[in-house]
Amino acid sequence: MADMAISVEGAHKTYGGKKAKDVKKALDGLDLRVVRGTVHGVLGPNGAGKTTLVRVLATLLRPDSGRVEVAGYDVVTEARAVRFRIGLLGQHAALDEELGGRQNLEMFARLHHLGARHARVRADELLERFDLGDTGRKPVRAYSGGMRRRLDLAASLVTDPEILFLDEPTTGLDPRGRAEVWSAVRSLVGGGTTVLLTTQYLEEADQLAGRISVVDRGRVIADGTPDELKSRTGGDRIDVVLRDAGQLGAAVALLPVPESGVSVDVDRRLLSAPVTDRMTALSGVVRALEEAGIDAEDVALRRPTLDEVFLHLTGAGEVAA
Ligand SMILES: Nc1ncnc2c1ncn2[C@@H]1O[C@H](COP(=O)(O)OP(=O)(O)OP(=O)(O)O)[C@@H](O)[C@H]1O
Ligand SMILES: [Mg+2]
Repeated sequence: MADMAISVEGAHKTYGGKKAKDVKKALDGLDLRVVRGTVHGVLGPNGAGKTTLVRVLATLLRPDSGRVEVAGYDVVTEARAVRFRIGLLGQHAALDEELGGRQNLEMFARLHHLGARHARVRADELLERFDLGDTGRKPVRAYSGGMRRRLDLAASLVTDPEILFLDEPTTGLDPRGRAEVWSAVRSLVGGGTTVLLTTQYLEEADQLAGRISVVDRGRVIADGTPDELKSRTGGDRIDVVLRDAGQLGAAVALLPVPESGVSVDVDRRLLSAPVTDRMTALSGVVRALEEAGIDAEDVALRRPTLDEVFLHLTGAGEVAA
């Protein structure tokens, strides 16, 4: 498959233990295809197998079985060829705190056998690209979380990889740091780099990835564009905020959908229901509430969030109050 940057078929990986109870299935028949030049999100909760998948793809861990190809090479029998073509940003970074950003990048470049002059040029290019040009001399310990992560990202690009693995690139960052890293990741795509990004943040996958694979317990349980995944949960939602939480029950009974599909948040005086007909839903609900003498503070149509998608797909169903 020439247009596939990553192709995984039936990957299994088990950790552990002579005793059966210590054995942990981290990958349990995982299938995945990533098209060249795209950002692909692997979305899953703690322990879903995301890091295990990344380590298998990056040739740091051998799968027990299954076929795993990266850049057209087998990760087991052609690991060297794979390593030449990939970059990895791990969940925990490896920067020298005492060195400046520029020195860190030059060191990475030298480790990858670039000559001194070439290493310097590459470091400058990357600092510029990730908006770190002014802080190249400052020791990394004085960097903000977002700056550090951007420097990590720069370091993983020193070798100009075809395929880049980002394992939870924004975990632990504040909203500003997260936005900085997002914009850095977006800037990669134009250059043709394929990015596989793992995340627990549904919003992050939504923001960055053209396609998302939802992973749970070592398998892909759903796959598609963010919009496809959202529409699979039954399309748009209508949110109604009431003035009086005491009327929530009466309002739910008025809606033209089964009660089991409606979620209620008493603290926020909010009810949320799936809608089938976008045009009439809003005015119909507003009118019905008015006629019943129920005061609504806000009524709005919206797409479902990926949180709702995830709960739906993992079988947790609707969140009830
Ligand atoms: N070295 C190991 N030895 C034994 N079990 C492990 C090991 N590494 C991971 N596991 C188990 O394998 C499963 C998958 O772990 P993995 O780290 O791949 O998940 P993850 O999706 O990256 O989670 P997180 O979001 O917390 O990083 C988990 O149940 C974990 O406890
Ligand atoms: Mg992990």
